[in-house]
Amino acid sequence: MYTSRIAGMGKYVPENVVTNDDLASIMDTNDAWIQERTGIKERRHIQKGDDNSTATMGVKAAKIALERAGISKDDVDLIVFATLSPDYYFPGCGVQVQELLDIHTCPALDVRNQCSGFIYGLSVADQFIKTGMYKNVLVIGSENHSGGLDFTTRGRSVSVIFGDGAGAAILTRSEKEGHGILSTHLHSEGKHALELSLKGPSTEYWVPQIIEDDPQEDIPYYPYMNGQFVFKNAVVRFSEVIMEGLKTNNLQVSDIDMLIPHQANLRISQFIQKKFQLSDDQMYNNIQKYGNTTAASIPIALTEAWEEGKIKEGDTVVLAAFGSGFTWGSAVIKW
Ligand code: ACO
Repeated sequence: MYTSRIAGMGKYVPENVVTNDDLASIMDTNDAWIQERTGIKERRHIQKGDDNSTATMGVKAAKIALERAGISKDDVDLIVFATLSPDYYFPGCGVQVQELLDIHTCPALDVRNQCSGFIYGLSVADQFIKTGMYKNVLVIGSENHSGGLDFTTRGRSVSVIFGDGAGAAILTRSEKEGHGILSTHLHSEGKHALELSLKGPSTEYWVPQIIEDDPQEDIPYYPYMNGQFVFKNAVVRFSEVIMEGLKTNNLQVSDIDMLIPHQANLRISQFIQKKFQLSDDQMYNNIQKYGNTTAASIPIALTEAWEEGKIKEGDTVVLAAFGSGFTWGSAVIKW
């Protein structure tokens, strides 16, 4: 019986720091509003002319993960790439990563699922390893939000929240029972699909049609978010899926050594922390520095927590996410 474990992780964020004051200089917003509502102080944005894209940031994170795992690129059996901001409409970023890393002809699979994308990707990778089909899977979450946000006052309730970056993990086969990924839990509820969505460009909302048909006030190629509705659903689903992971493994909240929630909004994380009465040491947040990087937020936070020595061998680590779809999920890991 095989299990999978995370053998190495890496992260990459663009150098360009964009503070709340920087945003206030281009739209009607301010540092106090952003910090009070979201906890975000700054985020990273790709700069025009640098070599960063969703795929290339993913590659930078992947190279670090491979090195830390001690695994050659040629030993990667599958690439799983999670993003909501791919470089192209098609093909997905997975094949770009394969080409940029120069990895033979292994399969490359793109996963959507937005803020839950990394958990979905991890679960897919875990299944392939558990069945014995693959030994090493590279899972990447990467986002270039800044390339597609409305940085005018019209888009301020969404554009101040999101940032760019990438995280990656190498999942590898293990035969040690009760170790590695213990379980993953995935859910979705399509009836709320449009509450947090970006409709076009797509086959429904093609670019020439948008330019011809759409009034300026309803631009479907910028994201739409029903913020308060998302908040209310997020806190419920985060709580449910964390409990589902714990119950499946006969664990209590007190057994959690580290909870890494998707970095949606610091207020959501604080709500969860209070509800479960977790100490500051049992939870990791870095949204203050990077904003919400959707599919990249968990691998970036996981990597950073590990780099800071906050995750040690034998720890019980819980990952949890909620996002557009709605989709949500969790993973319980024995480190
Ligand atoms: N700066 C200044 N004022 C703003 C800004 C801004 N960036 N954005 C909106 N406002 C104004 C609005 O225009 C409104 O003004 P009005 O009262 O004069 O009409 C006022 O602030 C309140 O706007 P709301 O949208 O009602 O603000 P709310 O208190 O709901 O906060 C927020 C918005 C932060 C998005 C909140 O709803 C929230 O946290 N939602 C959770 C969603 C979330 O975290 N999403 C993250 C991505 S999804 C995910 O990762 C799961």
